[in-house]
Amino acid sequence: MTLTQDVSRNVASGSAGEPQLLEVDHVGLSYVTENRKLEVIDDVSFNANINEFMGILAPSGAGKSSLLRIIAGLQEPTKGEVRIKGKRVVGPAKEVFMIFQNFALLPWKNVQENVELALMPMKELTPDERAQKALKAISDVNLAGFEKAFPGELSGGMKQRVGIARALALEPEILLMDEPFSSLDELTAEHLRGEVYSLLISKDSPIHTVIMVSHNVEEVVELVDRVLVLSNRPSRILADIHIDLPRPRNKKSDEFYRYTDKIYSLLV
Ligand SMILES: Nc1ncnc2c1ncn2[C@@H]1O[C@H](COP(=O)(O)OP(=O)(O)O)[C@@H](O)[C@H]1O
Ligand SMILES: [Mg+2]
Repeated sequence: MTLTQDVSRNVASGSAGEPQLLEVDHVGLSYVTENRKLEVIDDVSFNANINEFMGILAPSGAGKSSLLRIIAGLQEPTKGEVRIKGKRVVGPAKEVFMIFQNFALLPWKNVQENVELALMPMKELTPDERAQKALKAISDVNLAGFEKAFPGELSGGMKQRVGIARALALEPEILLMDEPFSSLDELTAEHLRGEVYSLLISKDSPIHTVIMVSHNVEEVVELVDRVLVLSNRPSRILADIHIDLPRPRNKKSDEFYRYTDKIYSLLV
């Protein structure tokens, strides 16, 4: 097992001379409300690698959701910048799609309509092509037969499958997931975790990089190729760890415990 602790490690994601897909460069964030200033992110820098499922593990309030919004271009950092393919992100980034903790489905739209909504920015699609893409993605996440169901008729796990279907249909180069399993009961979460890696990361998947934020140590070690462990607020990177375990991962193995122990010891 290799535990990479060098937090300044910068692995090139493209071939020589090509810009990196995603660079987070000395990002810092503070919120100013009335007369109070809350330092949330101290200084975070990393590059994402191609075909990598990356985790960002941090305690609640450390700025995980804020960091994802900054990467997606939905919020400006107070310091530093994010670059996608070498270009500074200054507004909503077309390469990026986000899956939310609370599913973010429109309750008055059915499953297919909710997936198709995510495809609206792709102006080149005809309504028929949009429907075909949505139906394919719905089938890929094992929701065939539920196309016309409304969110209120679905379990939490099924709702999050719709979130994943949106991502599969849209095929973003960078997929961000904000605690995607934390609103689910543990059995449902475990089941969906078991499927998500192979759905999202494959050689011919157009999704190049997945970044999942979580406060759940076991979940991160079970799923990711690499994890950044962040400190309490104001957050900075404590460690950049490559999880070198075969898949599917055995949560009861000694090696699995070695990783989780290592990470818990960093967080205390
Ligand atoms: N728009 C905002 N204005 C002021 N404070 C905020 C805002 N958004 C988040 N915060 C605060 O910033 C901290 C980090 O929030 P967040 O990014 O949601 O962290 P996490 O996702 O890690 O729990 C929290 O203390 C939260 O209350
Ligand atoms: Mg959050």
